[in-house]
Amino acid sequence: MRVLSGIQPSGSLHLGNFFGMMKKMIAYQEQEELFCFIANYHAMTSLPDGKTLARGTLEAAANFLALGLDPEKSIFWVQSDLPEVQELAWALSNFTPMGLLERCHSYKDKVVQGIRPNHGLFAYPVLMTADILLFQSDKVPIGKDQKQHLEVARDIAIKYNNEYGDVFTIPEPEIDEDVATVPGLDGRKMSKSYGNTIDLFLDEKPLRKQIMRIVTDPTPIEEAKNPDSCNIFQIYRLFLDEAGVEELRQRYLTPGLRYGDVKQELFETVRDFFAPYTEKRKEIMADPEELRKILANGAEKARYVANKTMRKVRKKVGLIY
Ligand code: ADP
Ligand code: TRP
Repeated sequence: MRVLSGIQPSGSLHLGNFFGMMKKMIAYQEQEELFCFIANYHAMTSLPDGKTLARGTLEAAANFLALGLDPEKSIFWVQSDLPEVQELAWALSNFTPMGLLERCHSYKDKVVQGIRPNHGLFAYPVLMTADILLFQSDKVPIGKDQKQHLEVARDIAIKYNNEYGDVFTIPEPEIDEDVATVPGLDGRKMSKSYGNTIDLFLDEKPLRKQIMRIVTDPTPIEEAKNPDSCNIFQIYRLFLDEAGVEELRQRYLTPGLRYGDVKQELFETVRDFFAPYTEKRKEIMADPEELRKILANGAEKARYVANKTMRKVRKKVGLIY
């Protein structure tokens, strides 16, 4: 089965990104045919500064590779290294009713947030559809916020196939309801926009500082504490196996636990867990030429698959004359 997902290069990563999405994506490379790309065209809708985007794209690629994405076991590339996707987006635009895009929540939400309401932002779901259909993807793992975009992709693909025969695989979304939302320092969803993150690839000092900021309740040391309502516990458990979670729970239920001690332990755990990845990321970033080579190789493999689709599309719509 072919699994595809794209990730926008949007700056630093946090524990929510890792446990909520990247870990699962990377695991697909062992079982399925994984297509994974850095969605830098999409990021242009909210990141008009070229230097920041270029740097962010390279960093996002390094992040994925450092965390274990294997370019031998997957097809990994940067979206703009295959401009073919824009040609497909244009072909699909001509099958996309305005009403379908006008209904999209994410466009309306982003405009409310202050992002410029331009045509790129409006057409975003058509480009995302092209990403998915170009590679004949069976399954697309996404967060809940992208659900409507997948519906748009399916609608366009069905409409197109009705007109021209079976050109595209109809993609299925995979929305993992079990992936628990990782809570942030203040207990709300961990998110860049809330400023409540614990970031990946930090040096010790800033990492410790973030963890020490986790909000706790004022239960006195000599009383038992409730692990289920504690932000430290909810984050710490991500790093523990079942027995470890149980042991920590018992410590909460026994009077005398100090939140400061648990924060210190959590800091050491996070630091040690990500230390090899942080090291790997440094190595990758120290050799950007090698990184570009890996990405160019991935784009070559992706192009082979994309061309098969594009030959059909060009023929059907009359671009081959
Ligand atoms: P942010 O909210 O920090 O801007 P993004 O929207 O860039 O994060 O998230 C990228 C991906 O990471 C999303 O697809 C989502 O699945 C995952 N993700 C982000 N935050 C969390 C979280 N707190 N818990 C679980 N998954 C998350
Ligand atoms: N829109 C997605 C997001 O912001 C990123 C994305 C672009 C994507 N193209 C895609 C995801 C294709 C899945 C499939 O998260």
